[in-house]
Amino acid sequence: MISYKDLGLVNSREIFKKAIENQYAIPAFNFNNMEQMQAIIQACVETKSPVILQVSSGARKYANQTLLRYMAQGAVEYAKELGVNIPIVLHLDHGDTFELCKSCVEYGFSSVMIDGSHHPYNENVALTAKVVEYAHKYDVTVEGELGVLAGVEDEVSAEHHTYTQPEEVEDFVKKTGVDSLAISIGTSHGANKFKPEQCVRNEQGILIPPPLRFDILEAIEKRIPGFPIVLHGASSVPQDLVAVINKYGGALKDAVGIPEEQLRRAATSAVCKINIDSDGRIAMTAAVREVFATKPSEFDPRKYLGPARDKLKELYKHKIANVLGSNNRV
Ligand code: G3H
Ligand code: 13P
Ligand code: ZN
Repeated sequence: MISYKDLGLVNSREIFKKAIENQYAIPAFNFNNMEQMQAIIQACVETKSPVILQVSSGARKYANQTLLRYMAQGAVEYAKELGVNIPIVLHLDHGDTFELCKSCVEYGFSSVMIDGSHHPYNENVALTAKVVEYAHKYDVTVEGELGVLAGVEDEVSAEHHTYTQPEEVEDFVKKTGVDSLAISIGTSHGANKFKPEQCVRNEQGILIPPPLRFDILEAIEKRIPGFPIVLHGASSVPQDLVAVINKYGGALKDAVGIPEEQLRRAATSAVCKINIDSDGRIAMTAAVREVFATKPSEFDPRKYLGPARDKLKELYKHKIANVLGSNNRV
């Protein structure tokens, strides 16, 4: 059993409390390799932002849980070396079983998500409560989910949104004891969050998606005032980066995300954790494609992963300062 406290990590309780009181959201960035980790830590140190490092089941399979945990431990030291001791949470993203959550708690994670949203309500409650009971023994915080995002949530595919029902949240939070709640109000995972027919096109041919359901968010906030809310699927799919990818041989068709103004609005509410993964993938891919297309004789990975890391860092700094508002909070 490794305690996250010995690794210099923190759970999410205090940082969420501050974020809600001061109307900003904490970035939750996914990572599975060193360049992503460097970009995240450099961006958060330079902007003085707390951060949640997220590991999905896929990342765990790809990079190995032990290596990822040591990387998070290294991130704590790296941030100090860069001069700012930012709060760092190591979080399991979309945990789907009790055993996986338990294993992460034992490996030094400071926070876990148990995503029981695809199960019937009572099963979701029972599974989430079981994870909470175990995790809280070690002061590890737990995120639950109610409502299903359209698109692919890990290996489970949901064709349509099932919006969170505000009538359920109070009972869910009370019965499970979760520390935060992911909700479904119109966001979804990936780079194609909406079908073109769900959007309208502006004069430049850019797809404008339907707005998030702020009415549902407000109804949820009324029922559980001050309770930490999480938004998954919150990439905005920057069109300038999509254009770079497509210019240099990529084929991202009809890619569309959540407009940043809407995420900004959400960040000033009880939404205190905003998950961003796809935008980072897009930024890195754009940078790598540009190097491959414009410098075809390069074959040193540092010559394309370096620019990818720089692009990623620039994106994260922008998100922190202009969308989430978590800069200058440490
Ligand atoms: O919500 C999913 C995250 O973007 C992680 O994606 O399962 O491909 O690692 P992944
Ligand atoms: P995006 O695909 O919109 O980046 O969402 C990431 C996410 O929710 C990770 O859990
Ligand atoms: Zn997610």
